[in-house]
Amino acid sequence: MDILVTHKIPDSGIVKLQAAGFGINILKGKVTKKRIIKELKGRQYSALLPLLTDEIDEEVIEACGSNVKIIANYAVGYNNINIEVAKKKGIVVTNTPGVLTDTVAEHTIAMILAVSTRIVEADKFVRNGLFKGWEPELLLGQDLKHKTLGIIGAGRIGSRVAEIAYKGFNMDIAYYDIKKNDWIDKNLGAKYYACPEDVFRFSDVVSIHLPLLESTYHFVDRARLLLMKPNAFLVNSSRGKVIDEIALTEALAKKVISGAALDVFEFEPKISSKLKSLQNVVLSPHTASASKQTRSLMSTIAADNIISVLSGDKAINPVF
Ligand code: DGY
Repeated sequence: MDILVTHKIPDSGIVKLQAAGFGINILKGKVTKKRIIKELKGRQYSALLPLLTDEIDEEVIEACGSNVKIIANYAVGYNNINIEVAKKKGIVVTNTPGVLTDTVAEHTIAMILAVSTRIVEADKFVRNGLFKGWEPELLLGQDLKHKTLGIIGAGRIGSRVAEIAYKGFNMDIAYYDIKKNDWIDKNLGAKYYACPEDVFRFSDVVSIHLPLLESTYHFVDRARLLLMKPNAFLVNSSRGKVIDEIALTEALAKKVISGAALDVFEFEPKISSKLKSLQNVVLSPHTASASKQTRSLMSTIAADNIISVLSGDKAINPVF
């Protein structure tokens, strides 16, 4: 049985798949939707292992034919896959939950610290030879202790970010989700708001942890940005399209909010020159889960799911 891997990923999973006797084709060079379709049509694959950057829409799923039994996404998010069509065709879809929770949460905390302490600006300042001596009002940031961290989406990653902020920095936790999270209520004394507007209104840092769904597209829009405190920061390590990036750029430029830290972008990898020109935003290239350990575990989990399904067992991490 053969497996189509759309890009090079860490070896851990590939080695497992090879040891289990599967044939592996890892695409090299530029990978487009057209190329994936051509590959799928040209050979009888039993499994597809794509990245979150591959659009696995109806056309691609149709090209899987009847032989592909599983699409094992190399990501926890699976908004790149048309789940309804996969379901109809009886193809199992899996993701890589759990292993990247701490890594993404730690990166999110790093972004909160980066934007509140202005450390990226400070680094540039020093490198550009602008440091002429200690000054009482040079590059003033903001403390986090006893400030309110507003979590939008209190799932695994949102809860872990809340826990680190509460235990490490004595931040107060407010959150919005479609349902209450008993664990963070009980352990972090978190305050639940059934209305997301209240979280935007009352928080000093708002951190977004939403999956990309029709209902979460542009969840952070102009109106919600306008509710935020002028000293507040917005942080996003989930999906870019959850924020109206044009509205955010305008809000940052006009100092409607104090700053933002973004790991994901609405039109990624494209980022407007206007957003990049702003000093009050910290940017990272969708690397929140990019630790050596986590990226390797993601590879292993994708492989384990493929091995399980192709051996006739249930998927370990099915998304439906
Ligand atoms: C995911 O797995 O969905 C993350 O965005 C990867 O960084």
